[in-house]
Amino acid sequence: MMPSQVLIKEVGPRDGLQNESQTVPMEVKLKLIEMLEASGLSYIEATSFVHPKWIPQLSDADELLKHLPGKARYSALVPNLKGIERVEKTSLQEIAVFISASEVHNKKNLNKSVQEAMADIEQVINKSNGHYQVRAYISMVFGSPFGDIVSIDHVKQLMTALFALGVYEISLGDTTGMANPAQVDAVLSDLLKHFDKDKLAMHFHDTNGLALSNIYVSLQHGISVFDTSVGGLGGCPYAEGASGNVATEDVVYMMEQLNITTGIHMERLLATSDFISNELNFNRLSHQLRKYRGG
Ligand code: HMG
Ligand code: MG
Repeated sequence: MMPSQVLIKEVGPRDGLQNESQTVPMEVKLKLIEMLEASGLSYIEATSFVHPKWIPQLSDADELLKHLPGKARYSALVPNLKGIERVEKTSLQEIAVFISASEVHNKKNLNKSVQEAMADIEQVINKSNGHYQVRAYISMVFGSPFGDIVSIDHVKQLMTALFALGVYEISLGDTTGMANPAQVDAVLSDLLKHFDKDKLAMHFHDTNGLALSNIYVSLQHGISVFDTSVGGLGGCPYAEGASGNVATEDVVYMMEQLNITTGIHMERLLATSDFISNELNFNRLSHQLRKYRGG
């Protein structure tokens, strides 16, 4: 059955800004987060505690955390022990760990094998000692653009291992927008025989324009948590072709049309999208922002 309300997890300040060629000043990031909160986004992935050389756009993570407005629940990516040591100096209560179902992508993204990355996640969770809520991402669940085959059994093994380590939710990543609605239907039909729908979230990138259709299919399977990015910003710099996440405002519009509650104020959200798109001179606008601008 379709849920009557959904939780939208805003990943724009992290997934969106990590892929920008220009470095966004911290004041702009803070203004973006403040506007997102004023739009009703209650969960925001604010930044990343990854290596600053790997993602220079988010190298201000430690400082940014000191200035967050504090209305939403915040999260940040943590790849390893060094990352959690940095988080310990902040007031963050939630972190997100990440791994790829594609061996090739994992190596490009984390400079290690999937097995080694899982060992790092275990270390991070052990070190955090129950102090943080831990969410996990699995990337490339619907296929890899690097030619290696991603099997659903492998995805299930990773999920089982992550839940055993204590993550409270797994976000299934379509990192380069390869998924189509029939595939999402097949994958979720299989996964939901083994895992609870309330512990899964969907993270669609909109490379091929199918993200909304994929979300609709996920709703039909009862999934009620979706990762989105205001203005459709986003991508993984270590996965060529990964374009933006599905735009928050496009998802909110679809939910409104479906009578599904999001708690998000559309006009304020569009103003937020307008703000960050102008700041970044971002041309690939969401459908809703284009309409809002009369274009
Ligand atoms: P590495 O170069 O192999 O690091 O990178 P290392 O472990 O060999 O350490 C080398 C040096 O880096 C050491 O310093 C460490 O202390 C330091 P030295 O001793 O030489 O002075 N170091 C760090 N410094 C600060 N913070 C850290 C950190 N870790 C090590 N956390 C590493 C390995 C994992 C660090 C690197 O590969 C990395 O940061 N990767 C992150 C890449 C990334 O952020 N990708 C995008 C996010 S994933 C994504 O977008 C997908 C998602 O959206 C879902 C989807 O769409 O599918 C989540
Ligand atoms: Mg992503």
